[in-house]
Amino acid sequence: MIKAAAARARSNIALVKYWGKANGTLNVPAVGSISITLDALRSDTEVVFDPALETDELVLDGEPRPDGLVRVSACLDILRELAGIGTRAAVVSRNNFPTGAGLASSASGFAALVGAAARALGLELSPRELSIIARRGSGSAARSIFGGFVEMHAGNARDGLDSYAEPLLPGKEWPLHVVVAVTSTGEKAVASGSGMRHSARSSPYYAAWLQTHPGDMALCRQAIRTRDFDALAEIAEASCLKMHAAAMAAVPALIYWNGTTVECINRIRQLRMSGLPVLFTVDAGPQVKAVCTPDARAAVRDALAAMPGVVEIIETGLGPGLETHECAS
Ligand code: PMV
Repeated sequence: MIKAAAARARSNIALVKYWGKANGTLNVPAVGSISITLDALRSDTEVVFDPALETDELVLDGEPRPDGLVRVSACLDILRELAGIGTRAAVVSRNNFPTGAGLASSASGFAALVGAAARALGLELSPRELSIIARRGSGSAARSIFGGFVEMHAGNARDGLDSYAEPLLPGKEWPLHVVVAVTSTGEKAVASGSGMRHSARSSPYYAAWLQTHPGDMALCRQAIRTRDFDALAEIAEASCLKMHAAAMAAVPALIYWNGTTVECINRIRQLRMSGLPVLFTVDAGPQVKAVCTPDARAAVRDALAAMPGVVEIIETGLGPGLETHECAS
């Protein structure tokens, strides 16, 4: 019998970053992280388990992507085992934003994949269980199961079952906005997973990154609890720069930024110095994400849109977690 369902999940950006793995096989992160889920950056995914299929299939943004199947099938295998079936699946996924360019398409993509597949198989899994399975596809995907402000726990169990995300604060309790300055639409040169392994192997700053991380988590939780924007800006920018410093100090260097990335960072620092509540963060790609209060949004957008080299502006508020539904197939 054919079993099908669909899901929508949103991308997220980390305010305290995840960089490094404790267990590559189970994809357990070396550190926790704190993120916000973004309303406007979405993956819509349909999963059809069809007895006529001999292998899993993946179509991403209209293109067959056999290169992405290893991680997709790994997630599907966990769900097939829970459901007690071996049927292969056709996965069709679409992102409404550039794939693989540091906008966390793997976060929304794997969260939507796991949500749709679990629903198609009739598995009644809790959000925490979905988070644990989504983590196997991509560490940041564990966070996209939830909306608003989210904390990912690295955990320390050997089986990875205490490595999951959970909600910290609903988005409506502190409705921040995000203005993404897209500085390049190409796919990134070094995927985050290999970038992490390379940093852990060769960066002299990786040990310091691990050692100082728990303090950053505590400061960020406190800033969110007290809605203290200046404290959030200080810790989020420090975590971002520390992650990139660890990557840049790897041998050979891992530089995810381009010139426009640096100019946008400088501009956001200037804006904050002039009194605007805005902070920057950058992931494993050259895009700059400005996080600001709703009243600062127009000024931040206008300032970043005017930067030479910014090719697109994406604006979003904070969004909800995973949504699943039946589909016609
Ligand atoms: O989830 P992954 O494997 O794509 O790694 C995400 C890494 C960063 O985006 C750089 C940081 C983070 O916490 O999202």
